[in-house]
Amino acid sequence: MTGGPVLAVDQGTSGTKALVLCPERGVIGSGTAPVRPRHLPGGLVEVDPRELYDSVVAAGRAALAEAGTPVVAVGLANQGETVLAWDPATGAPLTGALVWQDRRAASVCAGLGAHAERLRHLTGLPLDPYFAAPKMAWIRRHATGAGVVTTSDAWLVHRLTGAFVTDAATAGRTGLLDLDTVAWSETALDLYGLGAERLPRVVDCDTPVGTTNAFGPPLPLTGLLVDQQAALLAQSADDPAAAKCTYGTGAFLLAQTGPEPRRAASGLVSCVAWRLGGQVAHCLDGQVYTVASAVRWLTDLGVIAGAEAIDPVGGAVPDSGGVTFVPALAGLAAPWWRGDARGSLTGLGLDTTPGHLVRALCEGIAAQVVELAGAVAADRGAPLTSLRADGGLTRSALLMQTQADLLQLPVEVSSLPDATALGVGAVARLGHEPGLTLREAVPEWKPAAVYEPRVPADEAAARLARFRAEVSALVDRAAAAS
Ligand code: G3P
Repeated sequence: MTGGPVLAVDQGTSGTKALVLCPERGVIGSGTAPVRPRHLPGGLVEVDPRELYDSVVAAGRAALAEAGTPVVAVGLANQGETVLAWDPATGAPLTGALVWQDRRAASVCAGLGAHAERLRHLTGLPLDPYFAAPKMAWIRRHATGAGVVTTSDAWLVHRLTGAFVTDAATAGRTGLLDLDTVAWSETALDLYGLGAERLPRVVDCDTPVGTTNAFGPPLPLTGLLVDQQAALLAQSADDPAAAKCTYGTGAFLLAQTGPEPRRAASGLVSCVAWRLGGQVAHCLDGQVYTVASAVRWLTDLGVIAGAEAIDPVGGAVPDSGGVTFVPALAGLAAPWWRGDARGSLTGLGLDTTPGHLVRALCEGIAAQVVELAGAVAADRGAPLTSLRADGGLTRSALLMQTQADLLQLPVEVSSLPDATALGVGAVARLGHEPGLTLREAVPEWKPAAVYEPRVPADEAAARLARFRAEVSALVDRAAAAS
């Protein structure tokens, strides 16, 4: 087999991005296609699965058309914990896709409260409706008993190739995978009432799983990896001690921990980073559920015109004017795990402007990431020396500077915001070219920009203290109401 360009497809929450990656020339083609999740009352977030598939095909074809050159293989990254039921005979969806942000499976988690610690030890995941298993159980209890119920990647891969598989890292986001054996856990399946389910085969991320005609010529699908881990691979293959944060629909801070799982003591998720050629790498993972979602929320309210307005609007004022924004608009994840928390905006006055709100949002996002970085450092027993950053919102200099200020560390911004596609493209190359090493497959990390902290440590600490006080208040409120 020979090398050559690969098509790397990143199927995300609000859209699909596809890149044609050439080993010698880098990105030679790109395509995007939007998807439109519906946000419904009660914390429900759904998307039509057909939209996910159509966006994969449209973005992939657009990237190939722009590249104008054949590719040798395809890699697919997926949003991690989005779940649907579907008919394995026809591939037809039987339900909408419940997006990872959807909170409806809180009732399933509440019913399993007595088993929370056991499940956490077994799978590395806390009991929270963010993960796939509670949503799968909810679908079985409330929507349909027919067909199979899986994460969206298994459905997409089946539509593309006919295979019924999921990669080890996506399986690790379900709450059904044994963290030590990296195999489906009968105990977890039984606890969720999913013991009789037909589940996809768990494969290495670099396993050739079949051939797809969806993009025109027949192409082997040789790389599968959940999106956040794909971004981690792209940003830490040359330095396993590095930590990365992807600023997309949500923000996700991940750091490798080596071949053995390291169970988190500070509230983070412990899970599979990837399994390549039978070798497992593990990672710690922390989440901020609403980042671009929170920007979109401010946009929908008419405060700003969109993400591109963050810098001009926020830059019009020197600070947040005493406003504190905890953007827990879909609850709080690690390290608090209060899915029932609601966001808060405090310190408002008649003199509050859109600029203050934008700055307060940037601080609220950045402060949550600081908590996650601290948790990673505590669990790994070593402080971070910098944070690598990717994702669409790294285009905001205000957000990145705020992050460096509150973290009191340099923030190194990826030269390509689409690190996820780079990561899964590397995995597709590994699947296509046996013998290629990880370091050969992943381009060397070269940040496009480095943001150094500009505020003194005591000022950063004061801002964080204000944020923490607000988070405590809303966690208390959520606890009192539950
Ligand atoms: O865990 C959710 C995550 O996989 C979604 O990523 O890129 O769609 O925000 P993204």
